[in-house]
Amino acid sequence: MIKGNFPTTQFESFETPFYYYDMALLRETLDTIRKETAGKPFHIHYAIKANANEEILKLIASYGFGADCVSGNEILRALECGFPAHRIAFAGVGKTDREIRIGLENDIFCFNVESMAELEVLNELAAEMGKKAPVALRINPNVDAHTHQYITTGLNENKFGINEQDLPTLLRMIADGGHINLIGMHFHIGSQITDLSSFEDLCVKALELREWFHTQGVTLPVINVGGGLGINYHHPNHCPIADFESYFRLFEKYLKLEEGQTLHFELGRSVVAPCGSLITRVIYVKEGIQKKFLIVDAGMTELIRPALYQAFHHIENISSEKPYTSYDVVGPVCESSDVFVRDFMLNESKRGDLIAIRSAGAYGETMASNYNLRELPASRYSDNI
Ligand code: LLP
Repeated sequence: MIKGNFPTTQFESFETPFYYYDMALLRETLDTIRKETAGKPFHIHYAIKANANEEILKLIASYGFGADCVSGNEILRALECGFPAHRIAFAGVGKTDREIRIGLENDIFCFNVESMAELEVLNELAAEMGKKAPVALRINPNVDAHTHQYITTGLNENKFGINEQDLPTLLRMIADGGHINLIGMHFHIGSQITDLSSFEDLCVKALELREWFHTQGVTLPVINVGGGLGINYHHPNHCPIADFESYFRLFEKYLKLEEGQTLHFELGRSVVAPCGSLITRVIYVKEGIQKKFLIVDAGMTELIRPALYQAFHHIENISSEKPYTSYDVVGPVCESSDVFVRDFMLNESKRGDLIAIRSAGAYGETMASNYNLRELPASRYSDNI
């Protein structure tokens, strides 16, 4: 089996666990996105929640991409790392007054508004500050993304977004409020979507809604289709870059833009997941009755995805070339769900071996916690190892 390309000898002297980022792969990914969107009215807002590491943000910002933020602190981090305010979209169901003010003070590109209650507060705060808030309404397209229930977001019965039947009221509120500048509609149907036909359904819905807005005399220059493009967690070495070509081609084909309209994407996982690996060390090999366990020094505190979403991450022993044997790879945290994988074939392993948990660049480090009073993981980059 092919393995990833890791500087294992250098890793030997490092304390584990840590996140390792292959910056060359990240550059290649960003080059691909740039190539696939060149000459099209497409704008990328990288979803900071996927990975808010400063080195990574600076590199992404240097490509001229924008940012999608879900907290005031993410907006501040994005600005510090070089994302221009006029390319920052601010999403989230529970924006606080402080966070809204941060957005308004910095004149960000757009607030993705998720409820009437939020629209009211935004109008009030903008009035106080003598501003007009640029807004895209996050509408529930009621499209099934065929992904894990915790990361499906575009269905009607969901805490996110506005239902279609509320739109007439919202338009009246905007007209009466005076401090909202309605510039667009926003959608997000879910994450880790590999069946691209869900995005086709989204395009159909977006066009239908555009027509409805026209009937109300409203023309919206911005259509934001959110994020969600999935990656191949099973074959990180064969498929290190998401299928951006098919993804962008699909939108070009099914979502014909009007003159002056731009299409916005909030990609997170597909940009950063493949370039990150969690590097951990075997503390003990434990022989069970019918199984062998590798107890490693990373756990759900460093990477919660397997415990929280039954997510699969490919795992490699990067210190051993011995024959393959089956293991459960588990962490040290006092929770039975602290398991990375069960019955997985790895090169025969011993105490001290280094293990790479692959495709962990998105929603890995950003979701780490210090439960059990564990340290937060360090990060290292291939550029300056
Ligand atoms: N835009 C909105 C409004 C979102 O809610 C999200 C992700 C994105 C963009 C970026 O989506 P992406 O391109 O990364 O799929 N922690 C989970 C994923 C949660 C996704 C939340 N929203 C996981 O580890 O799978």
